[in-house]
Amino acid sequence: MPQLQEFKQTARATWAAGDYDAMMRQEGLYETGDRIVQLAGVGEGEVVLDVACGTGNAAIPAARAKATVTGLDLTPELLAVARRRAADAGVQVEWREGDAEELPFADASVDVVLSTFGVMFAPRHEVVADEIARVLRPGGRVGLVAWTPEGAIGEFFRIGGAYLPPMPDFVDPPLSWGTEQRVRELFEGTGIAFEFSREVAGLRHRSVESAVECYVNWFGPMVQARANAEADGRWPAMREDLAGLFARHSEPDGDGIAFPAEYLAALGTKRR
Ligand SMILES: C[S@@+](CC[C@H](N)C(=O)[O-])C[C@H]1O[C@@H](n2cnc3c(N)ncnc32)[C@H](O)[C@@H]1O
Repeated sequence: MPQLQEFKQTARATWAAGDYDAMMRQEGLYETGDRIVQLAGVGEGEVVLDVACGTGNAAIPAARAKATVTGLDLTPELLAVARRRAADAGVQVEWREGDAEELPFADASVDVVLSTFGVMFAPRHEVVADEIARVLRPGGRVGLVAWTPEGAIGEFFRIGGAYLPPMPDFVDPPLSWGTEQRVRELFEGTGIAFEFSREVAGLRHRSVESAVECYVNWFGPMVQARANAEADGRWPAMREDLAGLFARHSEPDGDGIAFPAEYLAALGTKRR
């Protein structure tokens, strides 16, 4: 489908825009990678795949737990940063450019599949779920993290979406991975049974203004939304919407603000 390839080409450019790593460091979101590795119980010698790994949020802590890790992502610019972060952390990870809809792994070859805020952004969720189930060995585990639609980041994406072109029909809504019901549906018939927990990422910023600047300068989709808003004179409204969101959901925290953001952690085990 040419539109699908075009969509992925555009997605790659979008995710490469801004400075994803700077955003992750400022807000403290790398803690979620440690959390999913802990929840999934990643252990020494296990074969782990971090799908849509970005700059290595889950892959690097999995490698620190002495697993044999591959990080796969569509966007080579983010993999280049991941490579540098892994070297700084003193861990080995194999970084591969690739597509969550077509995992370059043999059937039943992986012990643990992880994805933090990753596969939710691939276009066809059923295709991705089938791929995850295919590469997972019997008895293997899945650890998936996605923003919930009703949490503050759900609202953040709805604000951004108002300044982005509508998604083509073949693209599933990213936030649907943040609901128990949809995750169960996606993996129905795969032999993977899930348990869920709702977790809160304690995002941190210096101020409401600094939070707005962080995302519109560094987070690819919001960089794009801001450019569109500026082009048609709606940037003041977009800035106000984002500032309102951060003001409503944050609380003072030391010399900055804390912005609690809910996500769903889905932990699955494949029948033996
Ligand atoms: C919000 S980022 C999350 C990155 C990382 N997992 C993290 O926790 O920081 C979304 C990632 O999904 C990747 N992505 C989007 N569509 C993809 C696809 N079809 N296959 C592989 N990666 C994809 C993007 O390149 C980007 O790195």
